Amino acid sequence: MRQVTERVVRDHQVLGYLRVSHPWFEVTKPSRRLIWDLSLGSSAMVGVVALIGWFLSGIAMAPVRDSYQQLKQFTADASHELRNPIAVIQTNVQVALADPDPDLAEQQQQLQVIERITRRLGRLVDDLLFLARQDSGLVPFTHAPVDLAQLVSEVVEEQRAIAIAAAVSLNQKLEDTSLQPSLSPWLIKGDPDQLTRLLTNLVVNGVQYTPVGGTVSIRLSLGQLRNQPAIQMQVQDTGLGIPAEGVTQVFDRFYRVDPARSRASQDKGSGLGLAISKAIVHNHRGDIRLDSTPGQGTTVTVWLPALEAKA
Ligand SMILES: Nc1ncnc2c1ncn2[C@@H]1O[C@H](COP(=O)(O)OP(=O)(O)O)[C@@H](O)[C@H]1O
Ligand SMILES: [Mg+2]
Repeated sequence: MRQVTERVVRDHQVLGYLRVSHPWFEVTKPSRRLIWDLSLGSSAMVGVVALIGWFLSGIAMAPVRDSYQQLKQFTADASHELRNPIAVIQTNVQVALADPDPDLAEQQQQLQVIERITRRLGRLVDDLLFLARQDSGLVPFTHAPVDLAQLVSEVVEEQRAIAIAAAVSLNQKLEDTSLQPSLSPWLIKGDPDQLTRLLTNLVVNGVQYTPVGGTVSIRLSLGQLRNQPAIQMQVQDTGLGIPAEGVTQVFDRFYRVDPARSRASQDKGSGLGLAISKAIVHNHRGDIRLDSTPGQGTTVTVWLPALEAKA
């Protein structure tokens, strides 16, 4: 209330009016103060909220920024890897076409080169597709019971010819599980195609990086993963080994310790095998590690959660 006006009456006669009022300044001062305080308070609050928002969005954006960076790197590396075989095919075709008097034997040789490179290109595209699908969560995953002992035998059979050609002996060993209560101790739940691909990658590496006369052994044993029963699958070779600074990077995409050292250089890999293997192990909620001693050999160990043991 800013003012009060009262009529002054004596003996039924109006003597006048008495008005009591605040000076206007006194009235508006508190409200101006209030407005000032309010605007100061709300600006401070908006500022703090904006600051927190900026900070949180920075945190939230970091993985997006990282994965965008990784995607850019992946695309650049993939294009680089694809360009090389395509250039070789193109050169061979150009040379063959430019010859006015083609020699049959020479042409045969050029076609063989093209066939080999096309096969490598196909494998590379296959690997790139797997990783691209893995990144977008589109890798089809079949949940099926897989007997790892049987899978090991199949992969050993498939790779036997390559191992013989490389003069590397390939053997498999199953831990004696006769004391285990489970009926089929090597049974796990997983995707048969992915698991075959995983073991094939590891065995191919073992054979590829082991000199003549060496050995690659695949061993299955019962182990533990995060305090749960797991199956331990080990691929051990007596090959070149990997220097300590390389061991931390072998699971990185496109990483190769020394591009020239694989035995058959025309059949050289792309550095995606172990990255794919790691992704497959991850899809199965397992774990993978690589131990290596240069000049002595490499051991890759994979743990996959076991099925509940049947009593
Ligand atoms: N068993 C092994 N012995 C020695 N080096 C290995 C072995 N496995 C992998 N490596 C090294 O790790 C690199 C990455 O392996 P991988 O991802 O399978 O790619 P690559 O296509 O080159 O085989 C290889 O280039 C090789 O230098
Ligand atoms: Mg490989």
